[in-house]
Amino acid sequence: MESLDVALVGPGRLGSVLLHLLPDSGHRVRAIRSRRPPVGPRENAGPESPVSDTWDAPEPWPRVDLVLVTVPDRFIGSVARRLAEEKLVGDGTVVLHTSGLLTGTILGPCGESGAAVGSWHPLQSFAPNLGKVSLSGIFCAIEGDREAVAVGEQLAGDLGMKPWHIEPGAKVLYHAAAAMAANLSHLLVVEARRLLTTTGLTGEDAAAALAPLMHTSLESALRASGLEGLTGPMARGDLEVIARHLEVLPPHLAAAYEALWRHVSETVVGSG
Ligand SMILES: NC(=O)c1ccc[n+]([C@@H]2O[C@H](COP(=O)([O-])OP(=O)(O)OC[C@H]3O[C@@H](n4cnc5c(N)ncnc54)[C@H](OP(=O)(O)O)[C@@H]3O)[C@@H](O)[C@H]2O)c1
Repeated sequence: MESLDVALVGPGRLGSVLLHLLPDSGHRVRAIRSRRPPVGPRENAGPESPVSDTWDAPEPWPRVDLVLVTVPDRFIGSVARRLAEEKLVGDGTVVLHTSGLLTGTILGPCGESGAAVGSWHPLQSFAPNLGKVSLSGIFCAIEGDREAVAVGEQLAGDLGMKPWHIEPGAKVLYHAAAAMAANLSHLLVVEARRLLTTTGLTGEDAAAALAPLMHTSLESALRASGLEGLTGPMARGDLEVIARHLEVLPPHLAAAYEALWRHVSETVVGSG
């Protein structure tokens, strides 16, 4: 395994996880750059990590093999310009951002300075309330210049991830699928839980009541290649039950329910 000297820009939710894991996977964090000065102890940084600095009061930045840009998508372009203007990247440097939506081309200014650029996206959500730090077994979508892809693959492999090549033109659809799985399901659980609390359960009991139902459905859906395994009134084509549901749901949920039901009714065969 070749050890990489790494700089990271944007020690937020994902950046902090990477700062924590990089030293354990044999890589050295040489520089951390943030927007605002850190407040309090840096909980997630590895023991050997440097203290983060800001663009306003930058510490000297040693030559690094890899720059990880883990800032929100809307700032990646301006960070790329700054990295190039301040000559922090050049021949022999790989620059990877971690957006699921954008491709490596947003790092154009770094590419024009001689760096190899690409995107490196872990298909996992880093919620502040979970404290989960392992990336082991997580799929990582990688695209970009040849050297950037090679370094991205190495990094993913060293972190125990499953790297895979994505076509740049497929990234938006890929990201929409990920957002549906992670964010729409999150919203549906929150709404279902809220509806249950109006029937007399506490929020905590509502979550406990939903958990086995959701785990079973999720497991079944993940094993299925299509709609087989779907249960409930949609699977049975039970229009009366569906109509009763639509009567009592708030309009935004009724609209989503009905749209999905229309899709399922054209596809589903058999009963659940
Ligand atoms: N969180 C996830 O679940 C997840 C999963 C996969 C991929 N990603 C991707 O990872 C990237 C970061 O997401 P995140 O959720 O980790 O964001 P985040 O928690 O908001 O963290 C972003 C970090 O970047 C810093 N920052 C913003 N602008 C900067 C600049 N110009 N220079 C230096 N630092 C700057 C922020 O500092 P301040 O706090 O001072 O603003 C913050 O520390 C995004 O591209 C996102 O799509 C996120």
